[in-house]
Amino acid sequence: MPRELIFVQVGQCGNQIGMRFWDLALKEHAKAKQSLLYDESLSSFFRNVNSKNQELKIGEPIQNLKARALIVDMEEGVINQILKSPLGELFEEKQCIQDVSGAGNNWAHGFYHYGNQYEKHIEERLRKTVEQCDSLQCFFMTHSIGGGTGSGLGSRILGLLEDNYPEVFRFTASVFPSGDDDVVTSPYNSLFSLYELAKHADCVFPIDNSALINIVDQIDKPNKARLVKENAHEGSVGIKITQFGEEEKRQKPFDKMNSLIAHLLSHITCSMRFEGALNVDLNEITMNLVPYPDLHFLISSMAPLYSLLDSKLQPRRLDQMFNDIYHPDFQMITGQPSLHKYLAVGLLVRGDVAFSDVNRNIKKLKDQLRMIYWNQEGFKYGICNQPPIGQQYSMLCLANNTCIKDTFQEMTDRFQKLYKRKVYVHHYKQYMEQSHFDETLNAIQNLMVKYQELELAQPKKYQRIQPIF
Ligand code: GTP
Ligand code: MG
Repeated sequence: MPRELIFVQVGQCGNQIGMRFWDLALKEHAKAKQSLLYDESLSSFFRNVNSKNQELKIGEPIQNLKARALIVDMEEGVINQILKSPLGELFEEKQCIQDVSGAGNNWAHGFYHYGNQYEKHIEERLRKTVEQCDSLQCFFMTHSIGGGTGSGLGSRILGLLEDNYPEVFRFTASVFPSGDDDVVTSPYNSLFSLYELAKHADCVFPIDNSALINIVDQIDKPNKARLVKENAHEGSVGIKITQFGEEEKRQKPFDKMNSLIAHLLSHITCSMRFEGALNVDLNEITMNLVPYPDLHFLISSMAPLYSLLDSKLQPRRLDQMFNDIYHPDFQMITGQPSLHKYLAVGLLVRGDVAFSDVNRNIKKLKDQLRMIYWNQEGFKYGICNQPPIGQQYSMLCLANNTCIKDTFQEMTDRFQKLYKRKVYVHHYKQYMEQSHFDETLNAIQNLMVKYQELELAQPKKYQRIQPIF
C-alpha cells in the first residue's frame, strides 16, 4: 500500500524551496524508473491524471503528473512565477491559494487576518487533496519563520492540520532567520512561530539561513575560505575555516541554499518512495527520535554537502562521510552538538552500501557521541538503496540534541532586544493582545529549561534503600 505525503508550501521562502524540491524529486524518479508506468514510488508525491483530469491507477502509463501539494502565498508573484515555469504543469490552479499584498512581515497579520479570511478555503482545499490519497501518512510544510505569511499563516495552517487530521504526521522544514536578517520584525515573527511549532508539529527540521550561507560561501569564494572540507584529508573534523569579513556579505544566494534544503527533504522522504535494505519510515523517525512530544526539533546534517553544489569536488568515501556527518560544518543549523547531549540520533544512508561498512563505522561513532544516560542505545539507522542524484551514496544525520536550546536562546535575546523597548508592538496589537508576547516568551523559556535539565541529567549514583519495616 503506497503511503502518501502532502506538501504544504507557504510564503515566498516556502514556495521557493518547494520548487527546488519538486525539480529534484522529478529527476530522482526519472533516474530510478525502469518503465513508463505509474508506480507506488511515484504515487507518494504525485497523482497521475489523463487529459480529462481523471485519476489513473497504479500500473497505468504515466500521462500527466500532479504534485500532492497545496501552495499558499499572500503576495502575488512567486506563485505566478511557479505556474508559468516548466514545473507549473505539476500544479492545478485550484491547488494554489494566493492574495495580493502579503502579510507585510507581520506574523499576526498572517495568523489572524489572513488566517480568518482563508481558513475555510484552506480547509476545503486540504480536504480535496487528502481525499485524493489512499493512505496519507504525513503533511510536510516548508516555510520561513521570519516573515509574515509562511510564519503567521503557516502557523495557523499547522493548527488546522492538527484539528482536522490529528492522526496524520505534521513535519516542517522551517527556515530560521540569520542574525543579520533584513526583516526587522523577524525576532518577533520567529519566536511566535517557534511557539506554534512546539505546540502543533510532530517533528521540525530547523534550517538556519546563516549556516546555509556559510556553506554556499565555501563554494563561491574559492580563494578565500578553503580548501572546501570535502577535499580535505580523511578525519577532516576540526579543520579551520576562514570567516568572511562584513564587507563581503552580499545578496543571499537563495537558489543554492534552497537546493541544499531540497536535498534534505528528498533524503528524509526517500525511504517512503524507494526500496531499502533497512528502510526507516517517517513514523520511525518520530518514534525513535522524539522522546518527549514537545522536544521535536531535529538537527540535520548531510554528507556529501559541498559537492551537491560543486560537482568538480572529489567524491567522498563512505568512511570519510562518517567523519563529515558529525562535524558542524555539515549541519543545516549552527550549533555544537558534540559539546551538548544527544537525546537520540538517526542516521539514514542512501545508496549501494555494505552493511558491514555501515556497522563498523556506527560502532566507532557510538563511542564518541555523548548520549543521554537513559538512551545510550538511542541510535537508529536505515539504508535506502536508491542513491541520490549525482552521487554514489549519501547520508543524513538527524539529531535530537540539547544544543538547540542555544539557538532558542539567541532567538529569545533578539526578541527581547526589541520587546524591552516595545518597538513595533503596535503593529501586532492591531490583531492580538499584547499578552501574547509574554506568553510566547514564557513558553520558549520553559522549553529551554527542559532541554537544560536533560543536558544536566545524571544517573542517580545511589539508590535509596527502602526500610525493611
Ligand atoms: P510576507 O512576505 O511577510 O507576507 O511573508 P513570507 O512568508 O512571504 O516571507 P518570506 O518567506 O520572504 O520570509 C522572510 C524570511 O525568509 C527572511 O528571513 C528571508 O531571508 C528568508 N527567505 C526568503 N526567501 C527565501 C528563500 O528562497 N530561501 C531561504 N533559505 N530563505 C528565504
Ligand atoms: Mg512574501
